[in-house]
Amino acid sequence: MAENMPNYLQFNNYLGFRYFALTSFMAFTLCILLELQFLMKPEYKMPTPVGISHNHISAFFQGRMGNHLFLYASLIGIANSTNMEPFVPPDCSLWDILELKAKKGGRSYHHLGRYIYFKENLSNTYDARTQEFDTDTYIDESYLQSWRYFNHIRNTIKEHYTFKPEIKNAAEKYIQNVVRNDPKGVTKIGIHIRRGDFLQDYFKDYGYVVATADYIHKAMKYMREQFQSHRFFICTDDHSWARLNIPESLDVTFVSSTSAIDDFALLASMDHMIMTQGSFGWWAAYLAGGTTVYFTGYPRPGSELDKQFNKRDYYLSEWIGMA
Ligand SMILES: *[C@@H]1O[C@H](CO)[C@@H](O)[C@H](O)[C@H]1NC(C)=O
Ligand SMILES: *[C@@H]1O[C@H](CO)[C@@H](O)[C@H](O)[C@H]1NC(C)=O
Repeated sequence: MAENMPNYLQFNNYLGFRYFALTSFMAFTLCILLELQFLMKPEYKMPTPVGISHNHISAFFQGRMGNHLFLYASLIGIANSTNMEPFVPPDCSLWDILELKAKKGGRSYHHLGRYIYFKENLSNTYDARTQEFDTDTYIDESYLQSWRYFNHIRNTIKEHYTFKPEIKNAAEKYIQNVVRNDPKGVTKIGIHIRRGDFLQDYFKDYGYVVATADYIHKAMKYMREQFQSHRFFICTDDHSWARLNIPESLDVTFVSSTSAIDDFALLASMDHMIMTQGSFGWWAAYLAGGTTVYFTGYPRPGSELDKQFNKRDYYLSEWIGMA
């Protein structure tokens, strides 16, 4: 193509390319300089509020929403027990859906030169060393999945875990619409059936299992006996399984939402919960705050995942285990 062009055009193209290369290079350099400056400069000024020690605590938010729910609550809980000030990084996924009250900060390692690093021993077992922090601390490679880190400030956690108005309103509207023909004050019981990723070989080998239909029937029977006038709301990531395995009944509503966040907001506003397994259902139950039934078959006994678990640290003692 270039051979067929008049000479003067080829010359112009060549100049154009030189100009393009030069500006690209300059833009690239500018970006590098800006990023360097950004990394070297703390993103947030850390003030010293009255009554709280100078020490700061932050954490790396790995995993997904369910994991972040534990990480955030544990961070706030540990900060409260050790009299430190918590900073929650902007990449925590909860900022978009909940009215979190913690300070945003602790963006990356680059800002944490003077922090000590802490890594938990086991992901689902309380680690008492967290109660002895006495200097700026960065929690890394941890999941902190135990109620023992934050249950002493349960009401505070519930305040932080208030949904954004549009999410909350959508859930309430949905629920009101479902129960409009039920007796007034009907007891709302959420059922969260998680399957999806838990069925992948990689997860199964590690020790993840899904609750059986038997378990869910048993838990529903228990709730039916406890609460005369009730309605079940079933949220799941596997609608076809739920439809096949849970008999249709007048007291059962299959929630057809396609968004995990909408499901979560709905389940969290139930009176009682039947959870299967996983942190998402765990949190719906904790926020609902009523009678909770959980599946004791998880994790698979003897698996690698099972070795991470102390069930007494993970499930609240008043929750009811069934298999
Ligand atoms: C811990 O939480 C309780 C309850 O929210 C609060 O009254 C107390 O001031 C907190 N303490 C610290 C050190 O943050
Ligand atoms: C956690 O690991 C540390 C360091 O290896 C050890 O000293 C401590 O006893 C462990 N704690 C628990 C509860 O396993």
